[in-house]
Amino acid sequence: MVNSAAPISFRTTPHPAPVPGATRAEAIADPGFGTIFTDHMVVIEYTAGKGWHDATVGPRQPIPLDPAAAVLHYAQEIFEGLKAYRLADGGMALFRPTENAARFNRSAQRLAMPTLPQDLFVEAIRQLVAVDKDWFPSVEGGSLYIRPFMFASEAFLGVRPARQFKFVVIASPVGNYFKSGAPAVSIWISSDYARAAPGGTGAAKCGGNYAASLVPQAEAIARGHDQVVFLDAAEHKWVEELGGMNLFFVMDDGQVVTPPLTGTILPGITRDSLLQLLRDEGRAVSEEPYSVQQWQDDARSGRLVECFACGTAAVVTAVGNVAGEDTEFTIGSGQAGPLTNHLRAQLTGIQRGEQPDPHSWILRL
Ligand code: COI
Repeated sequence: MVNSAAPISFRTTPHPAPVPGATRAEAIADPGFGTIFTDHMVVIEYTAGKGWHDATVGPRQPIPLDPAAAVLHYAQEIFEGLKAYRLADGGMALFRPTENAARFNRSAQRLAMPTLPQDLFVEAIRQLVAVDKDWFPSVEGGSLYIRPFMFASEAFLGVRPARQFKFVVIASPVGNYFKSGAPAVSIWISSDYARAAPGGTGAAKCGGNYAASLVPQAEAIARGHDQVVFLDAAEHKWVEELGGMNLFFVMDDGQVVTPPLTGTILPGITRDSLLQLLRDEGRAVSEEPYSVQQWQDDARSGRLVECFACGTAAVVTAVGNVAGEDTEFTIGSGQAGPLTNHLRAQLTGIQRGEQPDPHSWILRL
């Protein structure tokens, strides 16, 4: 689809009645995840034949939508998740935002949506963080979670790619994704549901994938677990991902394994960063299929010493216990192990400007 090549300038309208300072201070002291939002949002319009136009930074408010808008019927929607951090020296930074921009465009192509110039994607975030910079959480480990998304706004009920879209960016001050900081989470192996099938949209960050994960996730919660883990759709044998997080396995000889990106797994930017950090340290890392049977056997024999989930929201979170219809096992001590803690500290240290950034992952704002 056509991409606007002309530079776009933003029209800014400050919120006429932003959240009062005292209310904001209370909200950012203990924000939890995803329930509190900043005062502003960015909107950029797309029209076929015209490209991207009318970029605005304005008050965060409901978006007018025709009831026939294609997104409401055929789920033509994609999103990203990244964080802005307060740096140790008081500055602000994003972590690898061009990777989010690139993945956003790959998702767009898979969902027959227009791509967005990477510079425009990053500039939209830069504009929003600048206007809402007082919303960084004061809580330890907090950050400003940025949610860029795009949806089909054209009113049309025929099944074909829409010709009108909106790109929107909102921001939310966040603390830990898991309540109580979750030292280790417990996960449920779904045997009735799959997240993605070969040829499907598993590698795209589209809302539909998350909608499909809600029933199995609710099943996991009902059974007393924190998250669901999905197996491959074809054989129901290979471990894939948690739906919003990738998985890593650490063996007693130091080897680290994570499932390969075969098209049914979301290519996590945290996943990619951890692979790089592990390789930098000279560790043996393999991206290879790992079966659920092997997972159970390795946990029981003690070969598997750590397992962790990773993602922008979850950062690096240990997996302590795993259960399924006919299995239950604990990994290592059931708590976060040394490599899990080390990687979490290293990654967050880079993100907050407390450690060297050898790959230039930080983009100062
Ligand atoms: C993220 O880690 O940013 C995610 O997208 C996971 C979830 C909150 C949807």
